[in-house]
Amino acid sequence: MKLSARDLAAACTMDAEEAATEATVEVRLLATSKETDEASGLFAGVWSSSVAGPMPAELCRALAHSGNYVAGAFRGELLVGAIVGFSGHSPERDYLHSHIAAVSPDVRGQSVGFALKLHQRAWAATAGLRYVEWTFDPLVRANAHFNLTKLRVTPVTYHRNFYGRRNDGVNDGSDSDRLLVVWDVADGIQNPLGSSASVGASRSRVAGATLLSSSPDGRPQFEHVASDADRLLVAVPDDILGLRIDQPELALAWREAVRAAFEQAIDGAFRLSSFTADGYYVLERSIVGGHDLVSGSPGTTHG
Ligand SMILES: CC(C)(COP(=O)(O)OP(=O)(O)OC[C@H]1O[C@@H](n2cnc3c(N)ncnc32)[C@H](O)[C@@H]1OP(=O)(O)O)[C@@H](O)C(=O)NCCC(=O)NCCS
Repeated sequence: MKLSARDLAAACTMDAEEAATEATVEVRLLATSKETDEASGLFAGVWSSSVAGPMPAELCRALAHSGNYVAGAFRGELLVGAIVGFSGHSPERDYLHSHIAAVSPDVRGQSVGFALKLHQRAWAATAGLRYVEWTFDPLVRANAHFNLTKLRVTPVTYHRNFYGRRNDGVNDGSDSDRLLVVWDVADGIQNPLGSSASVGASRSRVAGATLLSSSPDGRPQFEHVASDADRLLVAVPDDILGLRIDQPELALAWREAVRAAFEQAIDGAFRLSSFTADGYYVLERSIVGGHDLVSGSPGTTHG
């Protein structure tokens, strides 16, 4: 059923409120400099590269003041998560570019991140924006699950070294390859007038030809794949952030391997479709060739 923009915004808002209730948080726009200071501090705690962190307090405040999207999740008076996005434009459309999101480490896995993203989606829909875009590091298994399985975003493009080489406490010394994903705010709305549990379906292991696996000692290992394989599986390490601290050379080996696997698959006209519960990207052979992860997806020209 095609919803009017107004009904879509109302349905997204209901989903967001339900998600916040389930996560026992209140998600709201950050209105004061005290709140944006706290959000900036939360980001700095997660990305520990510099005192200012990745979202300096002044920038956070200016984005909020200028009508961009700056929100936080509160438990009582305590800020436990924050998220920032700003206007994006392409020749095809306007969209919300979600630049950064983080949840305090001690409350992760309690669906606070999910509540933040659903609030962001409702804000975009209310603002008349149909799409929200963002990038994430494909090596971070938790984020692959969060984005592809829980939020069910659509992958658009694999970008080599999107930000250049990073030394920000999370990406130390590594090329910043990123997956660009897009979220159609109308996706996942199954029951437009009631609550929707449609977002967040899980995917179990699927059969396919393993192109990249993890060896018994945790190293990336390419495997032979038959030329007529229709589905490829590409592994990521269990904990790339830990490897970057403890075994930086192995972390770099994973960066090179996952990049090579994705680029080989994309050149072979495979498209990323999902992420399995046991840590593999699933890429399906497409009948249309090309260099985008999803042919025909809105936003394939970004980049
Ligand atoms: C990404 C982030 C915002 C998610 O916040 P959150 O509150 O933990 O999110 P949720 O609880 O809604 O969902 C997290 C999901 O990841 C899963 N998860 C956590 N660690 C995982 C791992 N190592 N492998 C696979 N899944 C994992 C959780 O089980 C949960 O999924 P489920 O509800 O299906 O079980 C948070 O992890 C974070 O702040 N990370 C650091 C900053 C960052 O990387 N931001 C970029 C976001 S793209």
